[in-house]
Amino acid sequence: MMAKEFGKEMAVGVIGAGAMGSGIAEVAATYGHRVVLFDTQQASIDKGLAGIEKNLARNVEKSRITDAVRREIRTRISPVVGDSAEGGLGALADCGLVIEAIVENLNIKRSLFATLEEIVEPDAVLATNTSSLSVTAIGSACKRPGRVLGVHFFNPPTLLRLVEIVPGLATDGAITDRVQSLIDAWGKSTVRASDTPGFIVNRIARPFYGEALRIYEEGIADMPTIDWAMRDLGGFKMGPFELMDFIGNDINLAATKSVYEATFYDSRFKPTLTQQQLSDAGFLGQKTGRGYYDYSSGAVRPEPTKNEDLGDLIFRRILSMLINQAADALYYRVASAQDIDRAMTLGVNYPKGLLAWADEVGIDETVKWLTALQEFYGEERYRPSPLLKTMAGDGFTFFG
Ligand code: NAI
Repeated sequence: MMAKEFGKEMAVGVIGAGAMGSGIAEVAATYGHRVVLFDTQQASIDKGLAGIEKNLARNVEKSRITDAVRREIRTRISPVVGDSAEGGLGALADCGLVIEAIVENLNIKRSLFATLEEIVEPDAVLATNTSSLSVTAIGSACKRPGRVLGVHFFNPPTLLRLVEIVPGLATDGAITDRVQSLIDAWGKSTVRASDTPGFIVNRIARPFYGEALRIYEEGIADMPTIDWAMRDLGGFKMGPFELMDFIGNDINLAATKSVYEATFYDSRFKPTLTQQQLSDAGFLGQKTGRGYYDYSSGAVRPEPTKNEDLGDLIFRRILSMLINQAADALYYRVASAQDIDRAMTLGVNYPKGLLAWADEVGIDETVKWLTALQEFYGEERYRPSPLLKTMAGDGFTFFG
């Protein structure tokens, strides 16, 4: 199947004007496309447009664009409010690419795609911004799943350069290549991921949170100490607990549960009671004023225990688990080694790519850490990736 030429003259549709959709619309319009921004709620459109206008005004203030360019970008975006189930999607009929960024619910997305494919031209491409659902399952709602793929932006799409391009099982390879080139032309940095739970970033990053929670639950260290170790000794911008409070405990727990369930309950991804309880209590993090830490005015953050040996133990345990995930993602062909490392540095700001980090700290050393954890706990959670074991035995590195 031939895809439409992806020139600037092609109209782009974005469905869902929330945090992600409005940002994606801004990115596409900034590149030069006419954009139809669709939502079922007037309030979402109003909020989405207000966000876009604020960003554009800031870009003028910072002399990144002129005021004339700001106006041009803004006029390229046409907001549409309608009922997605009852022909309201007609405004998207001439869009060559439609990116869906609605609520994260498989049935709702499937029904939207089935309706949408009857409205757009036969050669239009349909993309989903899903972060945790199967692209293949969304595409299978369509008569022509060959033109359905995942285009996974990170939050906020205007600032974060990483985009995971995810072909489903039935997606046409040529369409995937052309969408990837287009998103690169939008100024993004794309990586190719297989349609597997969490794709690259949301899969590999899980131990940053999960292993930190385990260490806390076992009483090895408190939260400020774990955060200190990962920040000051590990070089991460934020510690796991600070970051979970920033992301939102409900969102982080949902991502963990989704990967855990979708991997048929692989214990490496097992959620923790601590996070479940915080979520149940409504201690969701910065947005509710309380999470792992107290954000009320005058609250005093407990001091970490700055013991280097303890800090090193925490850092090496979490890093080994992260490297293990990265190696397994490579082993199971989720993505290439280069894309895995680029995804983690651009998508979640890791100070180094995990596979390059493995080369640096030593693959045999990482296998030793994992094997010791596995022997001590007797849990499959700590099993070293077969790839790491093979490489350690043969003295290989990831990047020569
Ligand atoms: P959001 O809740 O901010 O926005 C969703 C928007 O979709 C709302 O404005 C809602 O009115 C609209 N909507 C819901 N059902 C609709 C329908 N049937 N037709 C048209 N519009 C509909 O959600 P957010 O955070 O923007 O997420 C959107 C998608 O992007 C989800 O699939 C999410 O998993 C994914 N995603 C979210 C990220 C994040 O950090 N928030 C990061 C990467 C992906």
